[in-house]
Amino acid sequence: MPGETTLYALPQDAIPRQWYNLAADLPTPMLPPLGPDGQPVEAHHLAAIFPDNIIAQEMSQERWIDIPEEVLDILTRWRPTPLRRARALERLLKTPAKIYYKDESVSPAGSHKPNTAVPQVWYNRQAGITHLTTETGAGQWGSSLAYACALLGLDCRVFMVKVSFEQKPFRKTLMELWGGSCIASPSMETASGRAILAHDPDCPGSLGIAISEAVEAALADRSGKTRYCLGSVLNHVMLHQSIIGLEAQRQLGQAGVAQPDVVIGCAGGGSNFAGIAFPFLREKIGGANIRIVPVEPLSCPTLTRAPFVYDHGDQARMTPLMPMHSLGSNYIPSSIHAGGLRYHGMSPLVSQALVEGLLEPAAHDQLQCYEAALRWARSEGTVPAPETSHAIAQVIVEAERAREEGVERNILFCYSGHGMMDLVGYRKYLNGELHGGGMSDDDLAQTKAALAGHPPAAERHSGRWR
Ligand SMILES: Cc1ncc(COP(=O)(O)O)c(C=O)c1O
Repeated sequence: MPGETTLYALPQDAIPRQWYNLAADLPTPMLPPLGPDGQPVEAHHLAAIFPDNIIAQEMSQERWIDIPEEVLDILTRWRPTPLRRARALERLLKTPAKIYYKDESVSPAGSHKPNTAVPQVWYNRQAGITHLTTETGAGQWGSSLAYACALLGLDCRVFMVKVSFEQKPFRKTLMELWGGSCIASPSMETASGRAILAHDPDCPGSLGIAISEAVEAALADRSGKTRYCLGSVLNHVMLHQSIIGLEAQRQLGQAGVAQPDVVIGCAGGGSNFAGIAFPFLREKIGGANIRIVPVEPLSCPTLTRAPFVYDHGDQARMTPLMPMHSLGSNYIPSSIHAGGLRYHGMSPLVSQALVEGLLEPAAHDQLQCYEAALRWARSEGTVPAPETSHAIAQVIVEAERAREEGVERNILFCYSGHGMMDLVGYRKYLNGELHGGGMSDDDLAQTKAALAGHPPAAERHSGRWR
């Protein structure tokens, strides 16, 4: 074979046949979600939004869950995804570290999101559902759901955060190309959208608002044939994404790496991070010495600065209260180009892992992330999504630290998506038109004050990691 190895591929029939559920191995069980009466939510409370089979997965404590054959048939159109080694970036950084990445950009929609879109649509179809609604930030999730609906024959309606709708116009085209429809949120189509626009006609939108609109639109159909899908945050989404890390474990074995030293993923609602990290978190809980680093924007610092509280997943408070690190469902993060990282909350599973002391979160400024993306594009040659560039910024920090310390570390990260639809943001960065900056202390104080009336979420942990 010419040159050095940069690709570790698995054959199609080596695709994992079961998903991994971290809930089964958490040293301290998660707190339950709460309903409006302050009591733990039961399955039937969720039935108007999700089908029973998805609710069962959401609540499951089983460690391994079988992936249906028809779902595997679709996933193998692009899975197993390649594990690659970023040798050109290693050379650029003159680091002794070895940088491996799971390339989720090869999916039809260009990110990890179809890994859960396909099973979610499949389970809904099994339950007799014909119409789905959802929210989307950067448009990766909305286009992934439209793709899965096209393949499995369901109707798909997407509420897209307005600022991203304007920044990434081709995402709408992609959704329509796959037969879905895409509406800028806040919109006049729902009561929650109209209420926001009456108060603030120029509102740039947020994922919390778009979720309210999509849930409301699903509930409005009295025929019982419409349900809502969420592209991140919830336990079943983390479950579906575990396929990323399960494949990576085998591929690192091919590369002769028994165990990575550091695992990194950017974190919006937490799903690609969970996907790459949870199978390694299982090893860590079992005693392995692995550092696990979720990365977020400085302007939406959920894991690094937000309190652990009970909060709603959406702005109109239609979802149950979930135990998570949250900046408050009313918080509208600044209009950074990494639209998928502009979420006020965090997956309860990821949050509980942080409470347990198993994670070392990091936050980076948008300009530092664009700079990292440029170094990547000019060495490795591919264009990362702005969300992914947050993971790359942290990879560079780790690789430079390895150089300073003179240690050969194995770094693994999730290359969650490509940025070929995010060129407007790159254009602005190259023109010097983008700004950086984090969340101000005043904004954080306001956020905490707004959350003061919420039920307290106890930080329960085993004490083994903190
Ligand atoms: C490419 C990409 N990476 C990461 C994310 C963040 O989402 P999550 O934290 O659920 O992986 C998104 C969300 O839209 C995305 O499109």
